[in-house]
This record gives sequence, C-alpha cells and structure tokens, in this order.
Amino acid sequence: MNTFETLQQVVRNRRSTKPADMNGKKIDNILIRHLLELADWAPTHGRTEPWRFIVYENEAKQKFCHGHADLYKANTDPEKFTNAKYEKLQQQGDTVSHIIIVYMKRTQNNSIPALEEIAAVSAATQNILLGAAALNIAALWSTGGMAHHDSMKKFLNLADEDVVIGLLYLGYSDVDVKEGKRNVLLENKVVWNS
Ligand SMILES: Cc1cc2nc3c(=O)[nH]c(=O)nc-3n(C[C@H](O)[C@H](O)[C@H](O)COP(=O)(O)O)c2cc1C
Repeated sequence: MNTFETLQQVVRNRRSTKPADMNGKKIDNILIRHLLELADWAPTHGRTEPWRFIVYENEAKQKFCHGHADLYKANTDPEKFTNAKYEKLQQQGDTVSHIIIVYMKRTQNNSIPALEEIAAVSAATQNILLGAAALNIAALWSTGGMAHHDSMKKFLNLADEDVVIGLLYLGYSDVDVKEGKRNVLLENKVVWNS
C-alpha cells in the first residue's frame, strides 16, 4: 500500500464511537502523547498555534465527568433537566480511558481572525482522530453536555475569548465498527470549474 492509500484507508475508516461503547481498557499514555504530537502539526495561520489540550485520566477523568454533570444540573432549567442525561454525563468516565479537552487559546495582539484560529484547532482535532483511528483507539469528538456553556470555561479556567472546540472521549471498544455513511453526495458539495 502506498502512502496515499494508507492515508485514504485511515481517513475513510475513521468512525465516531460513543463512550457507552467503550470498554474501560486503559490507553498507554505514550500513545496519547503521540496523538497530541500529531495535533501539534496542524496548519496554523500566522503560526499562532492556538490549540491547547487538557488531558484527564484516572481519578481526574472521573472528577471531570462528575464536575461536568454538576455543571449541567446547576445551569439547566428544571423543566429541561433530565436525570438520564445527568447520569450519562457522570458515567462517561467509567468506560473511557482518557478525555482530552481541546480548546482554542485566542492569540492576543494578533490580526488573525478568531474564525481562523478555530479552524486551525479543528484541524488539530482531526489529526488526533485520525491518529486514534490508525491506532485502533475508539474516539468521539463531542460538544454535548455543557461543552459550549460559559460555565465550562469557568470550570476549565479558560479566558472569555478562548473557545472549547470539543471534548474528546478516547478508549477501546469491542463493538464492531459501524459502516460509515454520508447523506449528501460529494457531487452535490462540489462546484468544479474548468
Ligand atoms: C464539532 C463536532 C461536534 C460533535 N459533537 C458530537 C456530540 O456532541 N455527540 C456525538 O455523539 N457526536 C458528536 N460528533 C460526532 C458526529 O456525530 C459524527 O462525526 C457524525 O455522526 C459522523 O460519524 P463519523 O464520525 O463516524 O463519520 C461531533 C462532531 C463534530 C465535528
């Protein structure tokens, strides 16, 4: 297989796996480090390298999930609050190995628009997902729960102008990888001029 075919296979076969489908097996920290190194090679306009990561494992991972559930409880209208969601957020730590919070650290005194720094961090995030796929690590890029709520920024000690790009749940899974699907034909997403 040439380099392109290898890349093609990894990109094409990468799938999202929910924490509920992970089995609690621990990922070696050296592999997490490899994934973060891949993220660090994302393209970056103006070389601001705005990607930042907060990694949780072991006790800290459980504490994060309980804290996340508590944020949900404290910041949700009682009519909208459900115990099922509260417990789901709490229990995510039981089956995942590591959680990586990916956020955009807004560069000060720089002309690069925030949109472009968000784009760069999104590219860094995809690098992690592709690396995980190549290592048979199950992964979910989640913006569920309180990911985009201001209370999460406070919880993580982020500045107002920083942006949470995703909570990455990583682990191993025994569930068969489902077939990927796309709803819109590529032809309908492309305007090709010649
Ligand atoms: C910015 C972003 C946020 C996402 N948030 C969630 C989420 O909160 N919960 C979830 O189950 N999946 C989430 N996903 C994953 C998508 O559901 C998933 O990528 C989509 O279903 C396509 O499946 P695939 O990744 O297996 O190709 C998110 C993906 C992106 C790019």
